[in-house]
Amino acid sequence: VYIAASIDGYIARKDGNIDWLAEVPNPDNSDFGFADFMSDIDAIIMGRITFETVAGFGEWVYQKPVFVLSSSMLQLPAGYEDKAEIINGELNDIIASLHERGLKNLYIDGGRTIQGFIEQDLIDELVLTRIPILLGSGIPLFTETDRELQFEHVKTEVLNNALIKSRYKRTREEQGSGRR
Ligand SMILES: NC(=O)c1ccc[n+]([C@@H]2O[C@H](COP(=O)([O-])OP(=O)(O)OC[C@H]3O[C@@H](n4cnc5c(N)ncnc54)[C@H](OP(=O)(O)O)[C@@H]3O)[C@@H](O)[C@H]2O)c1
Repeated sequence: VYIAASIDGYIARKDGNIDWLAEVPNPDNSDFGFADFMSDIDAIIMGRITFETVAGFGEWVYQKPVFVLSSSMLQLPAGYEDKAEIINGELNDIIASLHERGLKNLYIDGGRTIQGFIEQDLIDELVLTRIPILLGSGIPLFTETDRELQFEHVKTEVLNNALIKSRYKRTREEQGSGRR
């Protein structure tokens, strides 16, 4: 996961608007490390709503294969047939089939989509950039789940004295170790 959220944990306004992301001070036109992150990624799995948002930008920014998770979308909009592929089914099966195609490092994007992966403990790394705004309401990055997942802090950067970008790695118990 590589995502930006408000201080209060929202990734978009209730209506899906992400204008507040573009208001971040960025005099040098930095990508804040996005290209570096993408260079290690084999493919992107994004929720249908995130796909519709990025398709609405007009300019396609991805050079890696994109898989759109959806059970309602039967075909991609005209012009996107060679840019993305629709997928659905069990997340573990989806991951296994992408791994078989040699696509190992998957970038998971979209609120409900990420929540589905978290629910099944399928997130290995989380890069979370906090934007200094309290939106008050919106589309949440996280929702309630039944279990706790431990992460190790890898690195935190303060970007343009405004953004707090933290990388976390999932720490999983070794099976049979008996340790928490
Ligand atoms: N702040 C940021 O960095 C950032 C990053 C990404 C996105 N966003 C914003 O977040 C919003 C989108 O997030 P969201 O939570 O509304 O939606 P989302 O995760 O992008 O998309 C949700 C949709 O994905 C499909 N989906 C998710 N899990 C599925 C599963 N296991 N099986 C089948 N289909 C599945 C479903 O599509 P169907 O209904 O078609 O079945 C579901 O309605 C947009 O406004 C976007 O701009 C912000």
